[in-house]
Amino acid sequence: MSLFERINERQGGVERPVAPAQPPHSAPPEPPRIAPSEPQPADPDTGEAAPAAPVAPADPFAAPGSGGAPETADPRRAPVFGDVGSDPYVGPIEAGLPSTAVAATRRLDPAIGALRHRIHQLLIDELGPLLFDRSLTEDELQRRVQEQLHSALAAEQAPLSAADKAQLIQDVADDILGYGPIDQVLRDDDVSEVMVNGPHDVFVERNGKLSRDPSVRFLDADHVRRVIDKIVSQVGRRIDESTPMVDARLPDGSRVNAVVAPLAIGGPFLTIRKFSADPLQVEDLIRFGSLDPRSARFLEACIVGRLNVIVSGGTGTGKTTLLNVLSSFIPSDERIITVEDAKELQLHQEHVLSLESRPPNVEGRGEVTIRDLVKNTLRMRPDRIVVGECRSGEALDMLQAMNTGHDGSLTTVHANSPRDTLSRLETLVLMAGFDLPVRAIREQMASAVDLIVQLTRLSDGTRRVTHITEVQGMEGDVITLQDVFLFDFSAGVDPDGRFLGQLQPTGVRPKFAEKLADRGLHLGPEIFTATAPTAGINR
Ligand SMILES: Nc1ncnc2c1ncn2[C@@H]1O[C@H](COP(=O)(O)OP(=O)(O)OP(=O)(O)O)[C@@H](O)[C@H]1O
Ligand SMILES: [Mg+2]
Repeated sequence: MSLFERINERQGGVERPVAPAQPPHSAPPEPPRIAPSEPQPADPDTGEAAPAAPVAPADPFAAPGSGGAPETADPRRAPVFGDVGSDPYVGPIEAGLPSTAVAATRRLDPAIGALRHRIHQLLIDELGPLLFDRSLTEDELQRRVQEQLHSALAAEQAPLSAADKAQLIQDVADDILGYGPIDQVLRDDDVSEVMVNGPHDVFVERNGKLSRDPSVRFLDADHVRRVIDKIVSQVGRRIDESTPMVDARLPDGSRVNAVVAPLAIGGPFLTIRKFSADPLQVEDLIRFGSLDPRSARFLEACIVGRLNVIVSGGTGTGKTTLLNVLSSFIPSDERIITVEDAKELQLHQEHVLSLESRPPNVEGRGEVTIRDLVKNTLRMRPDRIVVGECRSGEALDMLQAMNTGHDGSLTTVHANSPRDTLSRLETLVLMAGFDLPVRAIREQMASAVDLIVQLTRLSDGTRRVTHITEVQGMEGDVITLQDVFLFDFSAGVDPDGRFLGQLQPTGVRPKFAEKLADRGLHLGPEIFTATAPTAGINR
């Protein structure tokens, strides 16, 4: 059994496929040696994985405070974005320091830094073989590490206060068993992203708010590098001067990107998007104001009615999250095939097949692109194809699939407006080297895509759906778009700069309403008028 298989086994059977075995890299000896011991998803105190959150409440479209689950009463909310008052974005970070700040105080002392390094090294020397011992349970390993730590610290006879000692033990344990200074943050359920911009410059997104967290500090650039080495070696990849950029994942599925010297100036840089075992659901998006009950009903009808939908937005605007929510509307008796770079979608229907692309190995071989996978799905008799993101040639295959009987396909595109989405798709098709006349591409797009849902991250930090736009057809060389819902910017902002508006129907009934009616989905007039809906869709 290879080292990496053993690592994974120790970590409790990680679902992710481990990349093909590659020669162990020539990084400093420490990371590969300590990597196998990490109990990633488990809680170090209990040795248990984080408990699965309870299932969502019954009415998915209940508006906040209008008969749905009360905002603070829903136990699944707290770990995701933390309910603080009525605004999900007023998190604890605004009320005071984050919990990890408690641990910040003495990491700056160079003498303690040196001591920590010494003890760390000593432990590696003492425990080296044990870290590979598969017969040890995680609890047992934790216990052994703690014992060794205490005795190593006692032997040092360093004049430390009890609090300093406890902190030092915690820090070294995090280094050995976890990911060093970011270990605690990664275990914090309120945290969704961690960005290491340099050893002393770490940003954390908590409850949807991104801010610098001074409590998270690495000793130096080497320390960051060791953590990166540990992460990438776990998935059988390596990072060095010849491959200074790497995508990897933590055993819990969190997405990791690392860039080191010579590319990363002032780095190394590490960006982690935490995998949420409990992804946001439609009622969460409603609660956050990203959608409202009426537009959610409308989108549900569009998905059930097999329209081809593109979710569009900039980086980190919530495209994948919305795609997941939209996909959850697909009826459970349909065969769904998902295609992604790294599995993020979490669908609960019975008949879901997930495909994941593969980067080339160190020799530059073995790559399987999203495009290859999209083509392959067509041979797998899908009812629906859900593609995580179109970012190159797969755009054409996706359009063709949408046009050739795979109605109800969904994907996301990186663009800043519905019109921009079309230009982007056009560019993707052209850039992939297809010698098609622009008009032909546009015709493909106009007949393939039914709806564009635009996400925007507003200046108040909230992620909102700002457009729900129908693609109607062609007029001359131009594709005609018709907004069905638009975010109401005219409502202005409150004194704290938060947008007060929400999605409003433009009053225009989409042309595809008839197509939906043919499929037995009747959109009531209340969906398209300014008053709150009373009935929604009738099936
Ligand atoms: N509507 C929302 N309100 C608040 N937070 C959200 C919302 N949608 C997504 N998020 C959070 O924002 C982060 C980014 O979400 P997501 O991965 O869906 O974005 P993305 O647009 O797909 O990003 P990328 O461009 O990197 O693929 C996640 O941590 C997610 O939990
Ligand atoms: Mg995404």
